[in-house]
Amino acid sequence: MPISLSGRNFLKLLDYTPDEIRYLLRLSEQFKSLKLAGTPHRYLEGKNIVLLFEKTSTRTRCAFEVAGMDLGMGVTYLDPGSSQMGAKESIADTAQVLGRMYDGIEYRGFAQEIVEELAENAGVPVWNGLTTEFHPTQMIADMLTVKENFPGGLKGLKFVFMGDARNNVANSLMVVCSKLGLHFVACGPKDLMPEESLVAQCREIAEETGATVTLTDDVDEAVSGAHVVYTDIWVSMGEPAELWEKRIKLLEPYRVTAQVMAKADAEAIFMHCLPSFHDTNTTIGADIAEKFGVTEMEVSNEVFISAKSKVMDEAENRMHTIKAVMYATLS
Ligand code: CP
Ligand code: NVA
Repeated sequence: MPISLSGRNFLKLLDYTPDEIRYLLRLSEQFKSLKLAGTPHRYLEGKNIVLLFEKTSTRTRCAFEVAGMDLGMGVTYLDPGSSQMGAKESIADTAQVLGRMYDGIEYRGFAQEIVEELAENAGVPVWNGLTTEFHPTQMIADMLTVKENFPGGLKGLKFVFMGDARNNVANSLMVVCSKLGLHFVACGPKDLMPEESLVAQCREIAEETGATVTLTDDVDEAVSGAHVVYTDIWVSMGEPAELWEKRIKLLEPYRVTAQVMAKADAEAIFMHCLPSFHDTNTTIGADIAEKFGVTEMEVSNEVFISAKSKVMDEAENRMHTIKAVMYATLS
C-alpha cells in the first residue's frame, strides 16, 4: 500500500514506522534535487503555518521558514515570549486558536507533553521542532546526511553518540537508529545515559530491524570501527548555566578529537546538530575559556573543520527534510 502521512503530527519518531521514515528520506532527496535544480515547487500555495518558539534557534527556524516559503505557504514566526501561551492562555486554548487560522503548527520548547497537548487540541498537524526529550526533525536531516555519505545504505552502519547521551538529540538518534537498523552506541559517563525505559523500547524495536543499542563509558570500544561519530553540546537549552563546571569535568574524556576519529573506520564521518562550542568565538565559549581554561568543548576545532566533518551538509539538510515533513503531512 502506498504510504500517506496526510494529516499526521510529527512529534517523535517512536510514532513512525521504518517504512514511513524511509519515505520521508526519499521525499527529502526529491525536494533537495528540485531545490538544487532551481525548479519551483510551490505545491502548498494558499496554506499558512505558524512557528511557535519558546527557545532560540537558527537552523530550525530558518529551515521551517525557507521550506514553507519554497512550498508557497505563508509563514508566521512567534518568538520566545511574544505569544500569550503559558502566561495568559493555556496550551489547549492556544492550540485551538492557532488551529483555526493555520494549516500547521511548529513548536520548539520544553516538555514533550506540551507538544503532545498542542497536537491533541490543534486539529491540524503539529511538528516538534525540539523539546527537552526529542528532536525528530533533526533526525531526518541526520539520516539523509549519513545516506549521502554511505550510498551502500544505512542498515548495519555503526553510529556512535559521544557525550551527554540522555539529551534530546541522543535520545532521538537512539530511536531513529533502532528504527532503521543501525548499530547505535551511546558513549558517555554512567550518569548521563538515556532512561532505561527508552533504551528498553529501542532494543525491542532493534530486534525487529537488526539494529543494536549499546551503552558504554569506554571511548576506544565505542569508536572502534564506527562509521559515524556524533556529538552535541554539553549543556542543553533550558538547563542552568551552573551545570557547565560539572559537565566539563564529566564530559571532557568524551570530547571528539582527531585521536578519537583515528580509531574509527577509515571512511568515518563526524556529525553535530549544531550549534557547537569548538572554539572561543562565541560569548559562552569565551566565558567558559576564561572561567575554566577550556577552549574547545564537545569537539576539537581540528575535527570540526576537517574533511570528515559533514556538519554544514547536515545543517543544509534540515531545510530539505523539514520541507518533506511539511509536504507529507499537509498534502
Ligand atoms: N540543530 C538545531 O536545531 O539548531 P537550532 O537550535 O539553530 O535550530
Ligand atoms: N541538545 C541541544 C540541541 C540543540 C539543537 C539543546 O537542546 O540545546
